[in-house]
Formats: sequence, structure tokens, C-alpha cells
Amino acid sequence: MKQLFIVANWKSNKTSLEAKEWFDTISHLQNPISNKQIIICSSFTLLQTVQSITKQRQLPFELGAQDTSPFDKGAYTGEINGIQIKEFASHVIIGHSERRKNFHETDDVLQKKVEQAKKCGLTVIFCVQDETTAIPDNVDIVAYEPIFAIGSGKPDTPENANEVAQKIKENKSIQYVLYGGSVGSENVHSFTMLEHIDGVLVGGASLDPEEFAKIIDNA
Ligand code: PGA
Repeated sequence: MKQLFIVANWKSNKTSLEAKEWFDTISHLQNPISNKQIIICSSFTLLQTVQSITKQRQLPFELGAQDTSPFDKGAYTGEINGIQIKEFASHVIIGHSERRKNFHETDDVLQKKVEQAKKCGLTVIFCVQDETTAIPDNVDIVAYEPIFAIGSGKPDTPENANEVAQKIKENKSIQYVLYGGSVGSENVHSFTMLEHIDGVLVGGASLDPEEFAKIIDNA
């Protein structure tokens, strides 16, 4: 059985109380399966809460941040750097299209973010919008997320996602490629069953713990 990554991207959602409620629901539903690595990417403000809940309840989840500073520690007001993230999380999403669009993140900035994250020992999940998006060296996992599919309810076809994943693997020697964009419990398997897709990055559907538990089961 191939290794699958199921990544929840909560985006800018949930208070700490809501995060606790999410875990109250999923702790009972969750039945971990050894070939599935589950990574919860919350806002920075929730990382400590999520870390303490997952440790206390011994849940088989790893944690991720949704962004990181392109700089080292120091005089960068408002930034959260890789060393700070590493206290709580093992993974970081870099290059999400929402950050490229709303926060004007360029290839150059994203490359610096990847360098900083790797220096701090974080596993990088790097988002690309298609097979032509630049991918910095040393990225661990790539997530193919076509913009039209994000939050639209209109996913890419599994066949096209598989072809793009194959091209990314061939061109950039990347081992793992995930698909993201309108993934839910009803369509997750149509992606994960294909040869070159090693998991999913789930936005909206990860906010509901029952739906996310079904995604894990069905993947
Ligand atoms: P979506 O978002 O699952 O809500 O389409 C995916 C993402 O943006 O990572």
C-alpha cells in the first residue's frame, strides 16, 4: 500500500474553543490506518492548543503551519519564523495561491521561505498552480492546486491531476505530489487511487470533523 498524506488546511478559521470542539468530535471517529499520515495545518495562534490536545489524547496527527517568514529570527515585526514554528509543528505549507494573490508572494520570496523552513528542519509542502510553477530546491512534498478548483466545488479531473503530478515528479524529482481543490469524502478516493497522487490537501471540507474523518477513511 502506498504512503498517503491527508493534509487539513484550516486557513484563517477557528478559535481555540472551536479547535477543541473539532478534536472532541474527531477523537471518537478517528481510526488511524498505518499508511495514512494526517497533518493538521492551523493558524499560528492555534498551534499550541492543537499540539497539547494531540499529545494528551495521543492522536496520530502531525501539525503544520500555513506559512513562514522568509527571514531568520530578528527585527521583522509581525513575522513568525521557522524556529518558532518548529516548537509546535513539523510541517509548513508554502506558496499557497491565496498567499501569492493576496499577499503578493513572489517566486523569490517563496524560495527564501523554503530555505528558512528547511534550515529549521521543517517538512515543506509547496503549493503549485500547474506544472509550470517554479519549485525551489529541497521541497519535500508538492501540492498541485489549480486555482479554479479551490473552494469552488469544481475539482480538477482525477486523470488530469494524475498527469500533472506525473510531470512534476519527472521534471523536478519530487517524491510525493498531493492534489488539492474541492476535495471531499465523496471524491477523495478517485484521486488517491491514481498512481502519481500521494494524498490530498483539503481546505473547506477539513473544517468539519465528521467530513474530515470520512475523507481519511475513504482516501
Ligand atoms: P478547498 O481548498 O479544499 O476548500 O478547495 C484547498 C486549498 O486551498 O488548500
